[in-house]
Amino acid sequence: MSKSKNVWAEFFADKRRGGHRSSAEEFLAMEAREKLFHLDGGETLLDFGCGAGELLVYYAPEYEKTIGVDFSPSMLEESSKRIRERNCENITLILADDKTVWDKLDSSFDRITAAGVFQYLTYQEIEEFIFNASNYLNKGGKIVLFDMLDPRLYPLWKIGMFSQDKSCRKFLYKAVCGAKNIISASLKNHPIDILGYSHNPNKIKKIANKNGFEMICVQSMYYEYKYHAIIFRT
Ligand SMILES: C[S@@+](CC[C@H](N)C(=O)[O-])C[C@H]1O[C@@H](n2cnc3c(N)ncnc32)[C@H](O)[C@@H]1O
Repeated sequence: MSKSKNVWAEFFADKRRGGHRSSAEEFLAMEAREKLFHLDGGETLLDFGCGAGELLVYYAPEYEKTIGVDFSPSMLEESSKRIRERNCENITLILADDKTVWDKLDSSFDRITAAGVFQYLTYQEIEEFIFNASNYLNKGGKIVLFDMLDPRLYPLWKIGMFSQDKSCRKFLYKAVCGAKNIISASLKNHPIDILGYSHNPNKIKKIANKNGFEMICVQSMYYEYKYHAIIFRT
């Protein structure tokens, strides 16, 4: 594991929630509906970085077989609870990270997805993931990366551009704090904040193309500063 990976593995080691804008079931159900729309069918699904299973339990009824993968034992514990409560019998959970997951799989999938996870991977790790995923993708399959942080919109969200309360003083204060964080993080070679790294959609598209895929980028419906990368072969 790389040094930066350790930071995230440690951060998530005792976490129990996926950090959705709201953890109300009505909100999670809406988020899952949007995601199922983009997943657009398939019979088998791998949910990488499934966390507490907040979306996975909504995906499962639409698939024959689903696998949830996460490197956080506490997240998987929460996932197990949720799966039991919902009687989802077609979900298997695997404790693994982006490097170790591939050796633990014994079949390929129609859909490989991740929601709010790739912000914890570097471009190089994303490239390796897409390369490996392509070997576990069935014909006509898709890799769908939900809720990637958009580097063009994320800084605007950070300074409160999308918030209801847009006073000048608040903007200025947040902009100065943001700049201080960026400088301090780059000096320490740390990610800027706990939301991880933002990734330029054009660079993700280049990685997809290099691995023989097309990619379309769709604005996230519930997070103004996030986009979904839908990766497929033509
Ligand atoms: C923000 S949460 C999202 C959880 C879930 N996808 C959801 O939307 O509810 C990110 C999850 O990704 C997992 N994760 C981050 N990096 C990972 C990696 N390299 N390998 C496996 N899991 C990872 C974390 O443990 C955490 O559960």
